[in-house]
Amino acid sequence: MPKITIDGNEYDAQAGQTIIQVALEHGMDIPHFCWHPALTVAGNCRMCLVEVEKMPKLQIACATPVAEGMVVKTVSDKSIEGREDVMEFLLINHPLDCPICDEAGQCKLQDYTFEHSTGVSRFVEEKVHKAKRVPLGPQVLFDAERCISCSRCIRFADEIAEQPVLTFVNRGDHVTIVSNPDMGFDNNMSMNVIDICPVGALTSHDFRFKARVWDMSFTESVCPGCSRGCNIRVGVRNNVIERLEPRNNPNVNTYWMCDHGRLTAYPPVNEDRISGPRMKDANGLQQPTDYDSAARRTAQELSKYHKEEVLILGSAYATVEDNYAMVKLAREKFGKHSIPFIPHFSGQDERLLLKADKTPNALGATLAGAVADEHYQHIHGERTAEQTVLELLRSRKIKAVFALADDFLSDPQLLEAFEDVEFFACEAANESVTSRRADVVFSTSQWAERDGVIINFAGWAQQLRPAVTTEYYMRGRDLLHMSRLDRFGSPYDNWARGNKRDAREGWRLVQLVSNELGLDWKYLHTENVFDEIAELLPEFKGMSYESLGNLGQPLADGRVKAAPIKPIYEEVYQSSTERIESVGSVIL
Ligand code: SF4
Ligand code: SF4
Ligand code: FES
Repeated sequence: MPKITIDGNEYDAQAGQTIIQVALEHGMDIPHFCWHPALTVAGNCRMCLVEVEKMPKLQIACATPVAEGMVVKTVSDKSIEGREDVMEFLLINHPLDCPICDEAGQCKLQDYTFEHSTGVSRFVEEKVHKAKRVPLGPQVLFDAERCISCSRCIRFADEIAEQPVLTFVNRGDHVTIVSNPDMGFDNNMSMNVIDICPVGALTSHDFRFKARVWDMSFTESVCPGCSRGCNIRVGVRNNVIERLEPRNNPNVNTYWMCDHGRLTAYPPVNEDRISGPRMKDANGLQQPTDYDSAARRTAQELSKYHKEEVLILGSAYATVEDNYAMVKLAREKFGKHSIPFIPHFSGQDERLLLKADKTPNALGATLAGAVADEHYQHIHGERTAEQTVLELLRSRKIKAVFALADDFLSDPQLLEAFEDVEFFACEAANESVTSRRADVVFSTSQWAERDGVIINFAGWAQQLRPAVTTEYYMRGRDLLHMSRLDRFGSPYDNWARGNKRDAREGWRLVQLVSNELGLDWKYLHTENVFDEIAELLPEFKGMSYESLGNLGQPLADGRVKAAPIKPIYEEVYQSSTERIESVGSVIL
């Protein structure tokens, strides 16, 4: 194990590591543009220059392997001067678009100009002008003037997306990037290049010009787009989700997320929402009501029927806590030991991330006592006919249904089989076929408005965190992440008028109905429900919200082993985001 000295301190290194890896692992941030821990080393930006004793010229830290006794100086006059020269060179033709650039506020070039440049340019000639809006593919736009030719996007396309359609063309200061004109950069991982581009050269069709990053709050959560559960950061401005971006979890998604999740997971939080409970009147029209009346009516209706005539439905979209509460109600009031839920599969598992199971918590729902119906059982070769929802409904014995949030009636077969159901209550966050059919609709929180635990397909437990406020979750009071606008705006500012929905967590609504049915539940917070689960269910033994933290943990049954966690690049990125927020507070 070689020992090296960096800036006077001695460190143990692994054979084969480069100087930048050892430095970042020990909390030192050697500036770098082209190096990325998940890509091959290109060594073409020269930003990571350091002085190495006994070597006459400055060396690039990203491509220089450590050796026993190596002495590295990252802050010597020579290395500082080298970096300043690189910055001056990179800025010669840079357009200084910062006032209109999406990357401003999280841009490595901005940060390094502040930290590692003299602030002076000797270049007085006209800059080289290049194309400003070139579509590289359906989701990614390229601004050639902003590009610093680090080649991260080209290497990502080759090595990760395995679609090698990007390349440099031309020479010298006319160098630029093109995509294969016959194909374009069109794949389900394409938008990751926007995240790893260290400047604002690659922008997203979806996010362009929507918000400045210093006006957004960023919350660590989990993508609900499929059973992978990629770790994400939710960007919110004025209580509206503006974008999702991946964060590193070596046990789940490493540094990436898919375009499907990035583009489809957040619109249901922003749009087409149900706010406040509703009940059908005598004319069959849904009218606004209050939660207690909705719970009372549901309890009264469910009590009218024999236990065998009542169907309680779980949901693979809902959290472990919600499903657990529903199973508990079914057991304590209707004598059922498990409840069914409807699985939602489409397409095939992709090579990298996206799974065919498009729900985030099928395994969690199953462990909580909900059992998937025919399709899921069939796929897993353990079909249990009596538990299939379709068969139950077709038997015409079911007269009343109470369901967690899932638009299962958009399946025409299930809708048809629902004809004989006399009373239907459901939780729903969005307008849907299912919510329109219900006699009582409980407005429930979307995934980004609440706490809760979901389990991915492999058995990795992770926490959802609230990023968007509702009437029941407030920034500040509930420790939600706060942007500069949240901290310093008043209720009368335009940006503070974001829509806060009247929606509650799934288990809380089940508790209302349960207590109307004579049970005496006293959960105050989602965490109370999870603590009970951790106490009672062996797969969750020893877990808590604290132990789950930001990166989750494996189920206690040993089905999945944790990989070592070294999120070195992530830490650098996060510190830059935090810096944005603290700079914001200093300014104001
Ligand atoms: S577009 Fe961005 S990631 Fe690609 S080479 Fe230019 S600066 Fe690097
Ligand atoms: S792979 Fe699944 S969890 Fe990951 S980003 Fe895509 S949809 Fe979301
Ligand atoms: S980070 Fe080392 S040369 Fe670019």
